[in-house]
Amino acid sequence: MARILITSALPYINGVKHLGNLAGSMLPADVYARAMRLLGHEVLYICATDEHGTPAELAAQEAGLEVAEYCEKMHAAQKQAGADFKMSYDYFGRSSAPSNHKLTQHFARVLEDNDLIEERVSQQVYSNADGRFLPDRYVEGTCPNCAFEKARGDQCDNCGKLLDPIDLINPYSAVSGSHDVEVRDTNHLYLKQSEMSEKLRAWVDKAEGWPHLATSIAYKWLDEGLRDRAITRDLKWGIPVTDKEGNRRDGFEDKVFYVWFDAPIEYIAATQDWAADTGEDWESWWRTDKGADDVQYVQFMGKDNVAFHTLSFPTTLLGSGEPWKLVDQLKAFNWVTWYGGKFSTSQKRGVFMDQALAIAPSDYWRWHLMANAPESDDAAFTWEEFQAGINSDLANVLGNFVNRITKYTASKFDGKIPDGGETGEAESWIVKELQTRIPVLIDLYERREFRKAMAETRAIWAAGNEYLTQAAPWSHYKMDVDQAAVGVRTGLNLAVLFGIIAQPIIPDAAAKILDALNIPEKNRSWGFGDFAGIPDLIDAVPRGMEIAAPDVLFAKIEDDDVAGWTEKFGGKSE
Ligand code: 2FM
Ligand code: ZN
Repeated sequence: MARILITSALPYINGVKHLGNLAGSMLPADVYARAMRLLGHEVLYICATDEHGTPAELAAQEAGLEVAEYCEKMHAAQKQAGADFKMSYDYFGRSSAPSNHKLTQHFARVLEDNDLIEERVSQQVYSNADGRFLPDRYVEGTCPNCAFEKARGDQCDNCGKLLDPIDLINPYSAVSGSHDVEVRDTNHLYLKQSEMSEKLRAWVDKAEGWPHLATSIAYKWLDEGLRDRAITRDLKWGIPVTDKEGNRRDGFEDKVFYVWFDAPIEYIAATQDWAADTGEDWESWWRTDKGADDVQYVQFMGKDNVAFHTLSFPTTLLGSGEPWKLVDQLKAFNWVTWYGGKFSTSQKRGVFMDQALAIAPSDYWRWHLMANAPESDDAAFTWEEFQAGINSDLANVLGNFVNRITKYTASKFDGKIPDGGETGEAESWIVKELQTRIPVLIDLYERREFRKAMAETRAIWAAGNEYLTQAAPWSHYKMDVDQAAVGVRTGLNLAVLFGIIAQPIIPDAAAKILDALNIPEKNRSWGFGDFAGIPDLIDAVPRGMEIAAPDVLFAKIEDDDVAGWTEKFGGKSE
């Protein structure tokens, strides 16, 4: 069994995330982590809040709080939102933690020792009205690429291009709105990514199984020629830039590391914090000289994060000359859109994680977002498709199956798994279906093809309904109770199997099914890896065992619900 390290891109601290953020990193990472655990692998799933940079400072300012206080509050809110969505993080850390300060400063030191960091004079936008430099999102203006008038200094939200604040046309301060800004010289530390180009290209060349989206973005940057990047900023909140003695570096008293320099390092620092909490060994996950050689490291992220994970962070790790574990598999996603447009809090378009659960249970969202994962392209969320998918896949296909068979057992077989009878054609048919489909499902999970894995799961559930139609225990009951018993027994075993394969996606409903069917925790793993005979699957649960019918598993979504949600959160009428 493998050791699998999983990280999902760290959500910015500036507010609870919308469903698009969830669908593009945390949720698929969680589904994958759960699936791999069920297959018997040793999994470590790490996430954290990304607490530095201008997004944090601006959001704190808007909330009228000190940044540290704001981050503490929002970390707790995001942790809660994750728990409510059943994220099975082994650790949910904070990039502002002391461990990350220490490790970030360590990397900066070794990179400078290796001549990959250098102090350079750079031009920054300075606001006379605010009496300060304006890094990244502190300055806004017109995008030089697409002429969008509210482009942020670090990136244009309209065309997605990464920007340098001094390139903005007609710049103004996002702090005060003042246009009284000028470009001034100031020193910053630069990471010499350009010197790492060849090493990075050789490393990307060796990547296997990355989606095209990830490799194409990495090569695009490499082909354009990697630019050296400033890894410090004129901000107060962040990780201080220190000298060899650990004091503030001369001339950097008012500067901190750039958020994108320290954020990925937090993957490691959070693992250190997890180890400190649990008494586990973090080095065996991250240091190739300490056992991490046999770790399979998988990262999950939206497409805007790919360059940082394929070029900048590897520059830090490789450039250190130390034996750090690099990513093996990188799963990148396109965007979930809101009816083809952007999610927007201010314009009441879209649903945020904390609102979503007042609308529907987490299982509904988990299923829908994974069944429509934006893998090959952007995927539009619509209420109409949400309703159609939940009602058909969860309520009609899975819910109905479990309901029908358990209720029938309760009424005709005393609520016990019946004995007696011989298997026949219908059982051979379902065994064949499972023999073909289950290995496909496992393979899809292992390749992180989520849409297809969801389609295969649905197909297995649907095969159960088809089996019941073929076996039709209800029509045999009067004439041949043994024949009916085979159908019911097989149906109940299928319900167990369906609950087991549902666990990574819809953990609450899966637990309800498996609880009602009296399946002990230790028998809920897949164990298909070395499962010799799938035929055993349809007769695995002890005969005579008592079971119950679960409460309604999935309430249907009505047209009135959709109308109400559309009015409140936006929809096709907009
Ligand atoms: O794009 C984002 O939401 C970033 N906060 C992701 C950071 S990922 C990592 F490297 F920490
Ligand atoms: Zn633009």
